Parts: sequence; structure tokens; C-alpha cells
Amino acid sequence: MNAPRIVVFGGTGFVGRRLVAELVRRGFQVTVPSRNRDLRRELFPLPGARVVCADVHSGAAQRELLEGASAAINLIGILNERGRDGRGFQRAHVEFTRILIASCRASGLRRLLQMSALNAGRGESHYLRSRGQAEDEVRGSGLDWTIFQPSVIFGPGDGLFDRFAGLLRLAPVLPLARAQARFAPVYAGDVVQAFARALEDPASFGQTYELYGPDTLSLADIVRLTARHLGLRRAVVPLPDALGRAQAALFDFVPGKPFSTDNFLSLRRDSVGGIDGLYRLGIERTPIQAIVPRQLGADPRQHRLDGYRRTRRA
Ligand SMILES: NC(=O)c1ccc[n+]([C@@H]2O[C@H](COP(=O)([O-])OP(=O)(O)OC[C@H]3O[C@@H](n4cnc5c(N)ncnc54)[C@H](OP(=O)(O)O)[C@@H]3O)[C@@H](O)[C@H]2O)c1
Repeated sequence: MNAPRIVVFGGTGFVGRRLVAELVRRGFQVTVPSRNRDLRRELFPLPGARVVCADVHSGAAQRELLEGASAAINLIGILNERGRDGRGFQRAHVEFTRILIASCRASGLRRLLQMSALNAGRGESHYLRSRGQAEDEVRGSGLDWTIFQPSVIFGPGDGLFDRFAGLLRLAPVLPLARAQARFAPVYAGDVVQAFARALEDPASFGQTYELYGPDTLSLADIVRLTARHLGLRRAVVPLPDALGRAQAALFDFVPGKPFSTDNFLSLRRDSVGGIDGLYRLGIERTPIQAIVPRQLGADPRQHRLDGYRRTRRA
């Protein structure tokens, strides 16, 4: 008998790459549709995982991908859109999900795992609003759905510690909007375990899991912790909201939008969670300290190893 096949939309990203590897390890066949022509084949040198180039927003393409599959996982998401009117978020989060649900129904596929975010549906940002609308679509789908709402996700290659590390290496002073916003960062490996455990467990049908870690930190704490692990002395300057919003409005026009008004609005809500979804799934939460020192190269064993290598080269 063939192994069950899972289609992971958004499987080429930071979380997706880890999830695909875990699903393959658990014996699934995995199909990863990507918009990219160069197909990122090198991402999955694993037998069992296949990256295919597809117009992921097309219902016809989705139906073809889902034919014979046993579950769909939707990890597609954006933190910023090209414009500023919310249409990009609507397309990536709400319309994509709506089309995917229709494709699942048309293909007779019942199982859908949906990535969302803590605070989905709350606040004024297009990001959080569109996340909430997508969740509503999933809850009304009639499928066997599970929704995951993570806080910010950390691990090697993340958009949190690694991103701030890049900024801190360049700038002696870091003016920070919404520096007091609080997060409970969740480890990428725990997020992957949550998806993998829920996938075949009927107890997770119709459930929403908040995913957050054991440490709660403000954004300023996160940046200071990053600087400390890098051994850098840096000034973190919390901006009053009026200035933070002005900074965001300026960055709205910087190519690639390193920060935006919509990010600023999302940061008005603490991303800390209330009911521990990892505990509900039988997963022990990984603290920041277990991962980040080594991630940032600050692990004492790593320092010793680097020192040893330097001595050998000298
Ligand atoms: N990372 C976090 O801290 C965090 C926190 C809360 C929630 N989330 C959510 O978790 C999910 C996975 O996060 P991640 O960090 O792995 O994201 P990621 O690295 O940006 O990957 C997302 C993937 O989705 C695809 N994608 C992006 N924009 C798309 C669009 N407009 N249309 C179709 N496909 C698109 C991309 O695949 P191709 O380029 O190959 O097509 C990309 O590899 C996302 O939904 C994210 O919003 C992440």
C-alpha cells in the first residue's frame, strides 16, 4: 500500500521546510507546491518529498495537486503586502483559503490543517483581520479542520533573533517602535510537532491550538537578549507611539518593507496566548535559552570550538 500523501502549501518557507522533513520522517509522501519556477528542489533532497511548480491560487491547479491526497496543510502567509489597502492580505490569507476549501471539497479531501496567528481577528491591522476571516472560512467549511495560532516563531533562520542580529551588527543604536509589545516566542520545532501530532488525531478535528513558548518577553527584551548573545553593546531606544507610527509610515515606502504601518498596528496587541495548545497536544515547550544561544553562535561550547579552530589555523 502507498504511504498517505500530504500537500503542504507554503512548505518551502521557514516552518514548512522543517514540517516537510518531519512528515517524511514519519513515513508520509509530501507534495510541496511552490510559485517559484526554479522550484527550490534543493530544499528537499529527501525521497518522499516533491516540490512542484504550480499556480497555487488556481482552483484547477489545487484540485490536481489534491487528487488522491489524504490531507492539505496551509502554511501560506505574508507579513506585509505590496500595497497598503489590505488587498494583498485578503488574497494571500482569505481568498487562498476559500479556494483551497472549495478544492478540498471538490476532491473529496476532508482533512485541512490551517496556520493562522495569535490574535487572529482582533485589532486594526489588515494582517490580523485577514487571519480572522480566513479562520472563519475554515470553521464554516464542514471539513475536518484544525487551526494553529502561534506567537512569533523562533529557530535558526527565523525572522526574529536572526533578523535583529543582522540589524544589530550594522547599527550601534536601534530605535524601536512598540518596544513594550510582549511576545511568548514558540520554537519552530514545537510548531512542527504540533502539526505532525494533530495531523492524524481525530481529537484535533474542529480544534484551535494557541502555540506559545514558556518565556514572555517585550520586543525590547528580545533585541537586548540578541545583542547580549552576540557580545555587542548596543543602545535600544524605545520610541513613543507617535514616533513609532511615523517610523512605520516611512518604512511603508522602503522596498521590501522592513517594517510597516500594518506591522505597527499588529504590535498593538501582545502576542502571548492564554490556553497552552502545545500542552494540549502533549508537547513540552522549548525555552529560548535551549536554542537561541547556539543559534546566535553564543553557545559556550561553540565559542570553545571556534577558539580551537582559530588556534589550529594560526
Ligand atoms: N514565522 C513566524 O514567526 C510566524 C508567526 C505566526 C504565524 N506565522 C505564519 O506561519 C506560516 C509559515 O510561516 P513562515 O515563517 O514559514 O513563512 P515563510 O517562510 O514566509 O513561508 C511562507 C511560504 O508561503 C508561500 N507564499 C508566500 N506568500 C505567498 C503568496 N502571496 N501566495 C502564495 N504563496 C505564498 C511561499 O512559498 P513559495 O515562495 O515557494 O511559493 C513561502 O515559502 C505563515 O502563514 C506565517 O504567516 C509565522
